[in-house]
Amino acid sequence: MAKEGVEKAEETEQMIEKEAGKESAEGGGGGSHRLGDAQEMRVVVLAGFGGLNKLRVTRKAMPEPQDGELKIRVKACGLNFIDLMVRQGNIDNPPKTPLVPGFECSGIVEALGDNVKGYEIGDRVMAFVNYNAWAEVVCTPVEFVYKIPDDMSFSEAAAFPMNFVTAYMMLFEVANLREGMSVLVHSAGGGVGQAVAQLCSTIPNVTVFGTASTFKHEAIKDSVTHLFDRNADYVQEVKRISAEGVDIVLDCLCGDNTGKGLSLLKPLGTYILYGSSNMVTGETKSFFSFAKSWWQVEKVNPIKLYEENKVIAGFSLLNLLFKQGRAGLIRKVVDKLLGLYNQKKIKPVVDSLWALEEVKEAMQRIHDRGNIGKLILDVEKTPTPLVPDARTMPTRLPWTDDPTNVYWSSTSPETHPTRERERQTRSMD
Ligand SMILES: NC(=O)c1ccc[n+]([C@@H]2O[C@H](COP(=O)([O-])OP(=O)(O)OC[C@H]3O[C@@H](n4cnc5c(N)ncnc54)[C@H](OP(=O)(O)O)[C@@H]3O)[C@@H](O)[C@H]2O)c1
Repeated sequence: MAKEGVEKAEETEQMIEKEAGKESAEGGGGGSHRLGDAQEMRVVVLAGFGGLNKLRVTRKAMPEPQDGELKIRVKACGLNFIDLMVRQGNIDNPPKTPLVPGFECSGIVEALGDNVKGYEIGDRVMAFVNYNAWAEVVCTPVEFVYKIPDDMSFSEAAAFPMNFVTAYMMLFEVANLREGMSVLVHSAGGGVGQAVAQLCSTIPNVTVFGTASTFKHEAIKDSVTHLFDRNADYVQEVKRISAEGVDIVLDCLCGDNTGKGLSLLKPLGTYILYGSSNMVTGETKSFFSFAKSWWQVEKVNPIKLYEENKVIAGFSLLNLLFKQGRAGLIRKVVDKLLGLYNQKKIKPVVDSLWALEEVKEAMQRIHDRGNIGKLILDVEKTPTPLVPDARTMPTRLPWTDDPTNVYWSSTSPETHPTRERERQTRSMD
């Protein structure tokens, strides 16, 4: 484990050195560059499906906006669990590699393609992108772009669309959450989990049951009503508190959690499958985990659903947006969500910021279940120096118990409250 951490740090160091070398060769210092006639930009590239070593930061020709597209100078990008699954090739119909990953970003409009109305150069925006988000510049159709409030930071904006739209769609469009209902959500400390918890709190008297790794409980305990360890027998725990079960089960794990979730539904309750995190059991795709998860999924007979008055649903935001043409519906949802943000009823929880060159470490943090809220790739952040300076302190990697696994961080607790919060949370365990 310690060796793995050191190897990763060395890899990052090499990436930084490589980038620095390129920049000096090109006579630049950050931002975009001109090589020959083509303007270039920094991007994260996935060279092939597999482990973290398939990710690189490299330079690519900068895109220009096509008809109906906006060109965005990216400030921050969201890193989601689905990005790990894409990296592994653990998704249906994966696109060809090499590819630039990432489905959401925030930034400033830099150019408008033909027939784009309602936006101006200089607008602060957040956007969905069908891949290619992890870059200094992104072009995406206008229907996937949303202006952001003046007081919303770019990090918050990059943490907003995927998590809050997914949570909102499931709770209000699919399951029709109303006053007095109860909801079970897994990975309650994660990006979607925290968005679900916040949206539930906008409706009176909603009971939220959450599962999460125990070390997160202190940090997130106020966001949900009841919290259980992710390994606990949550069916028993929920039934002890609510014998009839719950109205809504949000399942991002799949496998045997499908049957457990269905067994917890009250009459007229809704079960929604929206992820398959259980398929990710290591750095690379595991056929065994895939088969196990598939095999364990409860095979449902519609006649049983009819007799028991239960609803089963599935939800995929990316398919809804990019394959099923529902951008108009999603825009209305984003408008409602921005209204809630302006009323200070919801606020993205940002776990930590990472430079593009730190993408492997950022992904490792999710693999290690270390995050509370969303990870952000901050395009303007320089990678954390790997040598100590006057302000640095040695810090145990917060997501490992190995005492030899130490890295040097130049981020003081004042400027990096998340890491300080983690240290406090860990020391309480
Ligand atoms: N269908 C859609 O439209 C849609 C949209 C967004 C996200 N999703 C799904 O929603 C889920 C959450 O997504 P997110 O982006 O917000 O991520 P996230 O919850 O922040 O993901 C990280 C957390 O997931 C938990 N986890 C569960 N299984 C894991 C595993 N095998 N490996 C590592 N961590 C695991 C860990 O928390 P604990 O240890 O505390 O449980 C971890 O900290 C994912 O399944 C994702 O695919 C679906």
